[in-house]
Amino acid sequence: MKNPFVFGVEVSGEQFTDRKEEINEMKSDLLSGQSIIIYSPRRYGKTSLVKRVLEELKNDAVTAYIDVYPITSKEKLAEAIASKVTTSAFTSIKYDAAEIEFSIKGKEKDRERIFSESMDVAQKIAQKKNKRVIIAFDEFQETRRLDGEEIERVMRSHFQGHKDVSYIFIGSKKHMIEDIFENKNKPFFRFGKHISLKKIPGDEFSNFIKNKFRDSEIEISDEAVNTILDLTQSHPHYTQQLCHELWYITITKGIKKVDADGINGAVEKVLINQNDAYLSIWDAATKTEEATLIALASDEISLYSREVIEEYDLISQSHVQRSLKGLERKEVIGEANGKYEMDVFFKEWIKKRLLRTKI
Ligand SMILES: Nc1ncnc2c1ncn2[C@@H]1O[C@H](COP(=O)(O)OP(=O)(O)OP(=O)(O)O)[C@@H](O)[C@H]1O
Ligand SMILES: [Mg+2]
Repeated sequence: MKNPFVFGVEVSGEQFTDRKEEINEMKSDLLSGQSIIIYSPRRYGKTSLVKRVLEELKNDAVTAYIDVYPITSKEKLAEAIASKVTTSAFTSIKYDAAEIEFSIKGKEKDRERIFSESMDVAQKIAQKKNKRVIIAFDEFQETRRLDGEEIERVMRSHFQGHKDVSYIFIGSKKHMIEDIFENKNKPFFRFGKHISLKKIPGDEFSNFIKNKFRDSEIEISDEAVNTILDLTQSHPHYTQQLCHELWYITITKGIKKVDADGINGAVEKVLINQNDAYLSIWDAATKTEEATLIALASDEISLYSREVIEEYDLISQSHVQRSLKGLERKEVIGEANGKYEMDVFFKEWIKKRLLRTKI
């Protein structure tokens, strides 16, 4: 039997809870020509959601999805835009990549022209097909690796003339996304509507979990589901990760009902699986970063208060600030709704493996 809980990759079809509100809002916005900037901390489900939206719009628009992460130059980005949109619009005609082969030693002027034309292919296709084109850029902040901030100026100068193209910009690095779209000195200032993706609502997730266990003929009480969601704080990825282990343990032991022991066993299994990864984060942390993580794992909110600084040996407010920034940069913690969040299992790991000795 296939494990119905999936994590670590984008999810679709049966693995996806419905997120109906977000999907309807995005579909309506995009079809009316509204571009969207969608942000959330890591692994909330941005990619899965956007791909689902594109899938549902497939008949009403020409859709294209571009992951900026593996793209290595601005020319390759232009090529990706042109080829993805063309292939999606004319499924029978493959886009002739040779037409925009930037690696050949074309004259600088020609290369500039081809780059510029590729940037505008989407608008041309929209007009030709009399259909809206929708392009999603995943990890959009990574364009800054390609040509500093210059590429933003170039893209903006093209995109602003595209009346029949709606853009989706997905990002997971908050400070960069804010700098790109909220800084009035930057080209993409207020280029689209911001959607801040939240975790999956408790009720929705709870039904999803219950149904999956019941489909496998495993009984799970509301109380057990609440324990899971409390532990994972309804975080999409961590919830699926815990349920994945729990389902596996339950099935392999032939147990027909999930109870507290089963949940504890699944948490322990995740901690064992993650142990090496957590140890290397811990080894790479500075002393104040370690102290900051311990304070966060102990649910301290006012990290800058004198009492907390004293209790956890955080030294000073500026040390706390530097640690938080460092941990954020290393993606050990992320900011959501003005609060720092960490991997819920890393938090358990710190509590079980390190704080146990303190108590
Ligand atoms: N709608 C959903 N229903 C159920 N699980 C989901 C949903 N969205 C996300 N998840 C869970 O969260 C995980 C991460 O999803 P996804 O890769 O789409 O997130 P992301 O925000 O794009 O992540 P990243 O920041 O790494 O790019 C998935 O593997 C899945 O376990
Ligand atoms: Mg993603």
